[in-house]
Amino acid sequence: MFRTTLCDLLGIEYPIIQGGMAWVSTAELAAAVSESGGLGVIGSGAAPPGWLREQLHKTRRLTKKPFGVNVMLLSPYLAEIMAILLEEPVAVVTTGAGNPGKYIPALREAGTKVIPVVSSVALAKRLTRSGVDAFIAEGMESGGHIGDLTTMALVPQVVDAVDIPVIAAGGIYDGRGLVAALALGAVGVQMGTRFMCAQECTIPQKVKDFVIKAKDRDTTISGTSTGHPVRCLRNKLTRKYDEMEKSGTPPEEIENLGMGSLRLAMVEGDIEYGTVMAGQVCAMVKKVQPAREIILDIMNSADSVLSCLNDQVV
Ligand SMILES: Cc1cc2nc3c(=O)[nH]c(=O)nc-3n(C[C@H](O)[C@H](O)[C@H](O)COP(=O)(O)O)c2cc1C
Repeated sequence: MFRTTLCDLLGIEYPIIQGGMAWVSTAELAAAVSESGGLGVIGSGAAPPGWLREQLHKTRRLTKKPFGVNVMLLSPYLAEIMAILLEEPVAVVTTGAGNPGKYIPALREAGTKVIPVVSSVALAKRLTRSGVDAFIAEGMESGGHIGDLTTMALVPQVVDAVDIPVIAAGGIYDGRGLVAALALGAVGVQMGTRFMCAQECTIPQKVKDFVIKAKDRDTTISGTSTGHPVRCLRNKLTRKYDEMEKSGTPPEEIENLGMGSLRLAMVEGDIEYGTVMAGQVCAMVKKVQPAREIILDIMNSADSVLSCLNDQVV
Protein backbone atom coordinates (compact mmCIF):
# COMPACT_ATOMS: atom_id res chain seq x y z
CA MET A 1 0.00 0.00 0.00
CA PHE A 2 1.47 3.30 -1.03
CA ARG A 3 2.40 6.32 1.03
CA THR A 4 2.62 9.92 -0.13
CA THR A 5 4.21 13.05 1.33
CA LEU A 6 0.88 13.73 3.09
CA CYS A 7 1.55 10.71 5.30
CA ASP A 8 4.85 12.24 6.48
CA LEU A 9 3.36 15.74 6.83
CA LEU A 10 0.57 14.55 9.13
CA GLY A 11 2.15 11.45 10.69
CA ILE A 12 -0.51 9.12 9.26
CA GLU A 13 -0.33 5.77 7.46
CA TYR A 14 -2.65 6.38 4.46
CA PRO A 15 -3.16 9.61 2.46
CA ILE A 16 -6.82 9.92 3.45
CA ILE A 17 -8.41 12.72 5.49
CA GLN A 18 -11.96 12.32 6.76
CA GLY A 19 -13.42 15.78 6.15
CA GLY A 20 -14.68 17.75 9.14
CA MET A 21 -18.49 17.65 9.04
CA ALA A 22 -20.55 19.79 11.40
CA TRP A 23 -22.93 17.64 13.55
CA VAL A 24 -21.63 14.56 11.70
CA SER A 25 -17.95 13.97 12.45
CA THR A 26 -17.86 13.67 16.20
CA ALA A 27 -15.18 12.09 18.41
CA GLU A 28 -16.35 8.55 17.60
CA LEU A 29 -15.85 8.88 13.84
CA ALA A 30 -12.69 10.99 14.03
CA ALA A 31 -11.03 8.55 16.45
CA ALA A 32 -12.06 5.51 14.37
CA VAL A 33 -10.56 7.03 11.21
CA SER A 34 -7.33 7.99 12.96
CA GLU A 35 -7.08 4.54 14.58
CA SER A 36 -7.45 3.08 11.07
CA GLY A 37 -4.48 5.01 9.70
CA GLY A 38 -6.21 8.04 8.12
CA LEU A 39 -6.70 11.47 9.66
CA GLY A 40 -9.97 11.81 11.57
CA VAL A 41 -11.31 15.35 11.87
CA ILE A 42 -13.92 16.63 14.34
CA GLY A 43 -16.35 19.06 12.71
CA SER A 44 -16.88 21.94 15.12
CA GLY A 45 -19.27 23.90 12.85
CA ALA A 46 -21.20 26.43 14.91
CA ALA A 47 -21.20 24.25 18.04
CA PRO A 48 -20.50 25.91 21.41
CA PRO A 49 -16.98 25.78 22.90
CA GLY A 50 -17.97 23.36 25.69
CA TRP A 51 -19.04 20.82 23.06
CA LEU A 52 -15.65 21.02 21.34
CA ARG A 53 -13.76 20.55 24.62
CA GLU A 54 -15.81 17.41 25.39
CA GLN A 55 -15.17 16.06 21.90
CA LEU A 56 -11.43 16.68 22.20
CA HIS A 57 -11.30 14.81 25.50
CA LYS A 58 -13.38 11.93 24.17
CA THR A 59 -11.22 11.63 21.02
CA ARG A 60 -8.06 11.60 23.14
CA ARG A 61 -9.50 8.76 25.23
CA LEU A 62 -10.26 6.78 22.05
CA THR A 63 -7.00 7.27 20.15
CA LYS A 64 -3.40 8.29 20.68
CA LYS A 65 -2.96 8.87 16.93
CA PRO A 66 -3.00 12.33 15.30
CA PHE A 67 -6.42 13.84 14.59
CA GLY A 68 -7.74 17.23 13.52
CA VAL A 69 -10.48 19.79 14.09
CA ASN A 70 -12.35 21.63 11.35
CA VAL A 71 -13.08 25.23 12.27
CA MET A 72 -15.88 27.06 10.55
CA LEU A 73 -14.64 30.63 10.39
CA LEU A 74 -18.20 32.03 10.50
CA SER A 75 -18.86 30.34 13.86
CA PRO A 76 -20.32 32.73 16.44
CA TYR A 77 -17.85 31.17 18.91
CA LEU A 78 -14.77 31.48 16.69
CA ALA A 79 -12.56 33.27 19.25
CA GLU A 80 -13.40 30.77 22.02
CA ILE A 81 -12.93 27.78 19.66
CA MET A 82 -9.48 29.06 18.64
CA ALA A 83 -8.56 29.67 22.30
CA ILE A 84 -9.38 26.04 23.14
CA LEU A 85 -7.28 24.84 20.21
CA LEU A 86 -4.32 26.83 21.53
CA GLU A 87 -4.82 25.52 25.07
CA GLU A 88 -5.22 21.90 23.94
CA PRO A 89 -3.48 21.77 20.55
CA VAL A 90 -4.39 19.13 17.96
CA ALA A 91 -2.22 17.85 15.10
CA VAL A 92 -4.18 19.59 12.36
CA VAL A 93 -6.71 22.39 12.02
CA THR A 94 -8.64 22.57 8.75
CA THR A 95 -10.66 25.68 8.11
CA GLY A 96 -13.73 26.42 6.03
CA ALA A 97 -15.67 29.52 5.02
CA GLY A 98 -12.97 32.16 4.74
CA ASN A 99 -9.49 33.28 5.63
CA PRO A 100 -7.97 31.99 8.91
CA GLY A 101 -5.08 34.50 8.47
CA LYS A 102 -4.87 36.08 11.92
CA TYR A 103 -5.00 32.73 13.76
CA ILE A 104 -2.30 31.00 11.71
CA PRO A 105 0.88 32.12 13.55
CA ALA A 106 -0.42 31.10 16.99
CA LEU A 107 -1.71 27.74 15.77
CA ARG A 108 1.58 26.92 14.06
CA GLU A 109 3.48 28.07 17.14
CA ALA A 110 1.42 25.53 19.10
CA GLY A 111 2.65 22.81 16.71
CA THR A 112 -0.61 22.55 14.75
CA LYS A 113 -0.60 22.17 10.96
CA VAL A 114 -3.06 24.58 9.35
CA ILE A 115 -4.85 23.40 6.20
CA PRO A 116 -7.54 25.67 4.75
CA VAL A 117 -10.21 24.38 2.40
CA VAL A 118 -10.23 26.41 -0.84
CA SER A 119 -12.57 26.42 -3.80
CA SER A 120 -10.64 28.84 -6.02
CA VAL A 121 -7.09 29.61 -7.12
CA ALA A 122 -7.43 33.22 -5.93
CA LEU A 123 -8.17 32.20 -2.33
CA ALA A 124 -5.31 29.69 -2.36
CA LYS A 125 -2.87 32.34 -3.58
CA ARG A 126 -4.05 34.84 -0.94
CA LEU A 127 -3.66 32.28 1.85
CA THR A 128 -0.20 31.18 0.71
CA ARG A 129 1.10 34.48 2.01
CA SER A 130 -0.27 33.65 5.50
CA GLY A 131 2.05 30.63 5.78
CA VAL A 132 -0.29 27.64 5.78
CA ASP A 133 0.98 24.05 5.59
CA ALA A 134 -1.18 22.67 2.76
CA PHE A 135 -4.49 23.23 1.01
CA ILE A 136 -7.58 21.14 0.57
CA ALA A 137 -8.92 21.99 -2.91
CA GLU A 138 -12.59 21.10 -2.80
CA GLY A 139 -14.70 20.78 -5.93
CA MET A 140 -18.43 21.35 -6.17
CA GLU A 141 -19.24 17.63 -6.37
CA SER A 142 -18.79 17.56 -2.61
CA GLY A 143 -21.42 17.62 0.11
CA GLY A 144 -21.92 20.76 2.19
CA HIS A 145 -20.95 24.34 1.29
CA ILE A 146 -19.46 24.47 -2.17
CA GLY A 147 -17.78 26.72 -4.70
CA ASP A 148 -18.44 26.55 -8.41
CA LEU A 149 -15.48 24.64 -9.87
CA THR A 150 -15.30 20.88 -10.24
CA THR A 151 -12.56 18.86 -8.56
CA MET A 152 -11.15 17.83 -11.95
CA ALA A 153 -10.71 21.48 -13.00
CA LEU A 154 -9.80 22.98 -9.62
CA VAL A 155 -7.13 20.61 -8.26
CA PRO A 156 -4.52 20.93 -11.05
CA GLN A 157 -4.99 24.71 -11.13
CA VAL A 158 -4.35 25.02 -7.40
CA VAL A 159 -1.41 22.59 -7.69
CA ASP A 160 0.11 24.83 -10.40
CA ALA A 161 -0.54 28.04 -8.47
CA VAL A 162 1.02 27.19 -5.10
CA ASP A 163 4.20 25.50 -3.91
CA ILE A 164 2.79 23.64 -0.92
CA PRO A 165 0.98 20.26 -0.86
CA VAL A 166 -2.58 20.10 -2.16
CA ILE A 167 -5.18 17.57 -1.05
CA ALA A 168 -8.14 16.88 -3.36
CA ALA A 169 -11.73 16.78 -2.10
CA GLY A 170 -15.13 16.42 -3.70
CA GLY A 171 -16.49 13.41 -5.56
CA ILE A 172 -13.92 10.90 -4.28
CA TYR A 173 -15.26 7.52 -3.20
CA ASP A 174 -12.65 4.80 -3.71
CA GLY A 175 -9.19 3.95 -5.05
CA ARG A 176 -10.12 5.24 -8.51
CA GLY A 177 -10.73 8.69 -7.01
CA LEU A 178 -7.53 8.53 -4.96
CA VAL A 179 -5.37 7.59 -7.96
CA ALA A 180 -7.11 10.25 -10.10
CA ALA A 181 -6.39 12.86 -7.40
CA LEU A 182 -2.71 11.89 -7.37
CA ALA A 183 -2.66 12.12 -11.17
CA LEU A 184 -3.96 15.70 -10.86
CA GLY A 185 -0.99 16.50 -8.63
CA ALA A 186 -2.61 16.12 -5.20
CA VAL A 187 -0.80 14.34 -2.36
CA GLY A 188 -3.93 12.76 -0.93
CA VAL A 189 -7.68 13.04 -0.58
CA GLN A 190 -10.30 14.36 1.80
CA MET A 191 -13.62 12.54 1.81
CA GLY A 192 -16.87 13.32 3.59
CA THR A 193 -19.90 11.66 2.06
CA ARG A 194 -18.59 8.08 2.25
CA PHE A 195 -17.67 8.52 5.92
CA MET A 196 -21.25 9.58 6.76
CA CYS A 197 -22.06 5.88 6.44
CA ALA A 198 -19.18 4.68 8.59
CA GLN A 199 -20.45 2.47 11.39
CA GLU A 200 -18.85 4.79 13.96
CA CYS A 201 -20.55 7.91 12.57
CA THR A 202 -23.18 8.96 15.09
CA ILE A 203 -25.81 10.37 12.71
CA PRO A 204 -29.21 8.61 12.87
CA GLN A 205 -29.60 5.38 10.86
CA LYS A 206 -32.46 7.09 8.98
CA VAL A 207 -29.98 9.60 7.51
CA LYS A 208 -27.52 6.82 6.58
CA ASP A 209 -30.37 4.93 4.85
CA PHE A 210 -31.32 8.10 2.95
CA VAL A 211 -27.73 8.43 1.68
CA ILE A 212 -27.57 4.71 0.80
CA LYS A 213 -30.83 4.91 -1.20
CA ALA A 214 -29.75 8.03 -3.11
CA LYS A 215 -29.10 7.85 -6.86
CA ASP A 216 -26.58 9.81 -8.93
CA ARG A 217 -28.85 12.86 -9.50
CA ASP A 218 -30.47 13.01 -6.07
CA THR A 219 -28.37 15.87 -4.73
CA THR A 220 -29.20 19.49 -5.45
CA ILE A 221 -27.68 22.88 -4.67
CA SER A 222 -29.74 25.06 -2.33
CA GLY A 223 -29.27 28.65 -1.28
CA THR A 224 -27.38 29.90 -4.34
CA SER A 225 -29.07 33.31 -4.10
CA THR A 226 -27.77 33.76 -0.52
CA GLY A 227 -24.15 33.46 -1.69
CA HIS A 228 -23.72 30.30 0.43
CA PRO A 229 -24.71 27.40 -1.81
CA VAL A 230 -25.00 23.99 -0.17
CA ARG A 231 -25.08 20.55 -1.82
CA CYS A 232 -27.59 18.30 -0.13
CA LEU A 233 -30.12 15.55 -0.84
CA ARG A 234 -33.45 16.63 -2.35
CA ASN A 235 -36.31 16.65 0.15
CA LYS A 236 -39.24 18.83 1.25
CA LEU A 237 -36.84 21.49 2.53
CA THR A 238 -34.93 21.78 -0.76
CA ARG A 239 -38.24 22.03 -2.66
CA LYS A 240 -39.17 24.92 -0.36
CA TYR A 241 -35.79 26.54 -1.14
CA ASP A 242 -36.45 26.14 -4.87
CA GLU A 243 -39.89 27.74 -4.59
CA MET A 244 -38.53 30.68 -2.59
CA GLU A 245 -35.59 31.24 -4.96
CA LYS A 246 -37.88 31.10 -8.02
CA SER A 247 -40.35 33.56 -6.50
CA GLY A 248 -37.57 36.05 -5.73
CA THR A 249 -37.77 35.82 -1.92
CA PRO A 250 -35.11 38.07 -0.32
CA PRO A 251 -31.87 36.17 0.45
CA GLU A 252 -32.11 36.91 4.22
CA GLU A 253 -35.44 35.09 4.37
CA ILE A 254 -34.00 32.15 2.47
CA GLU A 255 -30.99 32.15 4.83
CA ASN A 256 -33.39 31.93 7.79
CA LEU A 257 -34.96 28.81 6.35
CA GLY A 258 -31.62 27.02 6.76
CA MET A 259 -31.05 28.02 10.38
CA GLY A 260 -30.67 24.91 12.56
CA SER A 261 -31.65 22.64 9.67
CA LEU A 262 -28.35 20.70 9.56
CA ARG A 263 -28.70 19.75 13.22
CA LEU A 264 -32.35 18.84 12.61
CA ALA A 265 -31.23 16.23 10.07
CA MET A 266 -27.97 15.00 11.57
CA VAL A 267 -28.95 14.89 15.24
CA GLU A 268 -32.74 14.57 15.20
CA GLY A 269 -33.00 12.48 12.03
CA ASP A 270 -35.51 14.69 10.18
CA ILE A 271 -34.76 13.81 6.54
CA GLU A 272 -37.70 15.78 5.15
CA TYR A 273 -37.24 19.22 6.70
CA GLY A 274 -33.58 18.97 7.71
CA THR A 275 -30.57 19.75 5.49
CA VAL A 276 -29.09 16.38 4.55
CA MET A 277 -25.74 17.58 3.19
CA ALA A 278 -24.22 14.93 0.91
CA GLY A 279 -22.05 14.86 -2.19
CA GLN A 280 -22.58 13.41 -5.65
CA VAL A 281 -20.85 10.15 -4.72
CA CYS A 282 -23.76 9.33 -2.39
CA ALA A 283 -25.04 6.95 -5.06
CA MET A 284 -21.88 4.86 -4.70
CA VAL A 285 -22.39 4.41 -0.96
CA LYS A 286 -24.15 1.05 -0.69
CA LYS A 287 -23.80 0.06 2.94
CA VAL A 288 -22.68 0.99 6.42
CA GLN A 289 -19.09 -0.15 7.01
CA PRO A 290 -16.58 0.26 9.83
CA ALA A 291 -14.14 3.15 9.15
CA ARG A 292 -11.25 0.67 8.98
CA GLU A 293 -12.99 -1.31 6.23
CA ILE A 294 -13.64 1.92 4.25
CA ILE A 295 -9.99 2.94 4.45
CA LEU A 296 -8.63 -0.50 3.55
CA ASP A 297 -11.10 -0.72 0.65
CA ILE A 298 -9.86 2.62 -0.72
CA MET A 299 -6.21 1.63 -0.36
CA ASN A 300 -6.67 -1.90 -1.80
CA SER A 301 -8.63 -0.58 -4.77
CA ALA A 302 -6.04 2.17 -5.33
CA ASP A 303 -3.34 -0.50 -5.53
CA SER A 304 -5.22 -2.46 -8.17
CA VAL A 305 -6.12 0.68 -10.14
CA LEU A 306 -2.46 1.67 -10.20
CA SER A 307 -1.33 -1.72 -11.43
CA CYS A 308 -4.03 -1.79 -14.16
CA LEU A 309 -3.35 1.71 -15.50
CA ASN A 310 -0.63 0.63 -17.91
CA ASP A 311 -2.85 -2.07 -19.37
CA GLN A 312 -5.52 0.51 -20.16
CA VAL A 313 -3.22 2.31 -22.57
CA VAL A 314 -3.38 0.39 -25.85
C1 LIG B 1 -22.69 16.25 5.91
C2 LIG B 1 -21.51 17.10 5.56
C3 LIG B 1 -21.13 18.14 6.40
C4 LIG B 1 -20.00 18.91 6.10
N1 LIG B 1 -19.62 19.90 6.97
C5 LIG B 1 -18.46 20.58 6.73
C6 LIG B 1 -17.98 21.52 7.69
O1 LIG B 1 -18.57 21.72 8.75
N2 LIG B 1 -16.82 22.19 7.39
C7 LIG B 1 -16.12 21.95 6.23
O2 LIG B 1 -15.08 22.60 6.01
N3 LIG B 1 -16.56 21.05 5.32
C8 LIG B 1 -17.69 20.35 5.55
N4 LIG B 1 -18.10 19.39 4.66
C9 LIG B 1 -17.22 19.02 3.51
C10 LIG B 1 -16.32 17.81 3.86
O3 LIG B 1 -15.43 18.12 4.89
C11 LIG B 1 -15.53 17.30 2.65
O4 LIG B 1 -14.62 18.27 2.18
C12 LIG B 1 -16.44 16.89 1.51
O5 LIG B 1 -17.48 16.09 2.00
C13 LIG B 1 -15.66 16.13 0.44
O6 LIG B 1 -16.46 15.78 -0.65
P1 LIG B 1 -17.36 14.45 -0.71
O7 LIG B 1 -18.61 14.77 0.06
O8 LIG B 1 -17.62 14.28 -2.16
O9 LIG B 1 -16.58 13.32 -0.12
C14 LIG B 1 -19.26 18.65 4.92
C15 LIG B 1 -19.66 17.59 4.07
C16 LIG B 1 -20.76 16.83 4.37
C17 LIG B 1 -21.15 15.69 3.46
